[in-house]
Amino acid sequence: MSSPKVVLAYSGGLDTSVAIPWLKEHKGLDVVAVTVDVGQPVDLERVRAKAKASGAVGAYVADARREFADEFLAPALKANALYEGVYPLSTALARPLIGRHMVEVARREGARAVAHGCTGKGNDQVRFDLSTTSLAPELAVITPAREWGMTREEEIEYAKQHGVPVEATKASPYSTDENLWGRSVECGILEDPMVEPPEAAYGWTRSPTDAPEAPTTVRLEFEQGLPIALDGERLPFHEMIPKLNEVAGSNGVGRIDHVESRVVGIKSREVYECPAAVVLIRAHQALEGLVLPRDVLDFKRTVEQRYAQLIYDGLWFSPLRTSLQAFVDATQERVTGEVAVKLYKGSATVIGRRSPHSLYQSALATYSSGDQFRQEMSEGFIYVWGLPARTWAAQTPPPTSTAPRAAKYRA
Ligand code: ARG
Repeated sequence: MSSPKVVLAYSGGLDTSVAIPWLKEHKGLDVVAVTVDVGQPVDLERVRAKAKASGAVGAYVADARREFADEFLAPALKANALYEGVYPLSTALARPLIGRHMVEVARREGARAVAHGCTGKGNDQVRFDLSTTSLAPELAVITPAREWGMTREEEIEYAKQHGVPVEATKASPYSTDENLWGRSVECGILEDPMVEPPEAAYGWTRSPTDAPEAPTTVRLEFEQGLPIALDGERLPFHEMIPKLNEVAGSNGVGRIDHVESRVVGIKSREVYECPAAVVLIRAHQALEGLVLPRDVLDFKRTVEQRYAQLIYDGLWFSPLRTSLQAFVDATQERVTGEVAVKLYKGSATVIGRRSPHSLYQSALATYSSGDQFRQEMSEGFIYVWGLPARTWAAQTPPPTSTAPRAAKYRA
């Protein structure tokens, strides 16, 4: 009789490979592996073969790059999503997508549980657990790495004993995670937040010092909040992102050194490389600044902050995220136009923007001839606008209030 099945999010690395025999030995479960291509450097067929060689009874692979770009990165870009103001949430955005694939395979295979290789200290466990439970509350979540307490050496020993192929690659001092939206790097020397990240920690970006002496300008066309063309070439979003990663990364753009506040309360230091995300968010913000009124921009910033936090916290599939998304989407109707961004030795500077829906009117803004702004009307406006301030100031101040500081003028 065959054992019950568990669907494992499988990367092809040591942890998730060891999890295959471990789940059999300790939980009596047959493992069906699922590997999702979200733009990480992965050979799906090799990963599938390795899952089988490690003992999986089934191995699914999926190219989800387009789905990732259109259903996760595009909504996040419309929201200019940056956790703690700096991190474009590249790793965080991929987790609910992978979770959705795990649930789909679990249903197809009649599995009653899902599993992932996250440790008990990070954010990704929260994201996998919450996204799978939100979509399929009936599924149990099993997390070998939270239970087994093995060191890396012990894992290698366990792998050898259980016939799991161990690749003889030199172990990197860093833990990395990659997808279309960025590369995350932590551990090793980066755990000292005062130490500058060594060049070897970076993989996608050239050091600004070594970047070309001449700047590169990219032109981005947006339609209703989403980029549709790069330098005049129309491209699907999932194809534009790698191109932009390349050109911006080679100009040293997109490095982010972040001491971040994890969901579980730990402060951790992570280094990110997100060249395309940094350029796109900056360009998108610039276009919004041209076409959206002040109050919408201002309120949207509050929404964006909360939205970014929800994604970081693993709450992509939540009623609040969906509701905030509805607001964000509604703001994007007129976010159509073109933005020019200059890339130069690590900086990405917006140098031009235009839109058919621009609220910028030369006749109102100009200080040269042709000014149509009726400056005499400002007196009445300021009289009314300043009324509360005058009323306040005319009140007798309470006795404890600070007297105006003695002026130090000399007449
Ligand atoms: N700290 C990032 C996040 O919570 C990335 C986590 C994965 N990082 C890694 N180097 N494996 O989204």
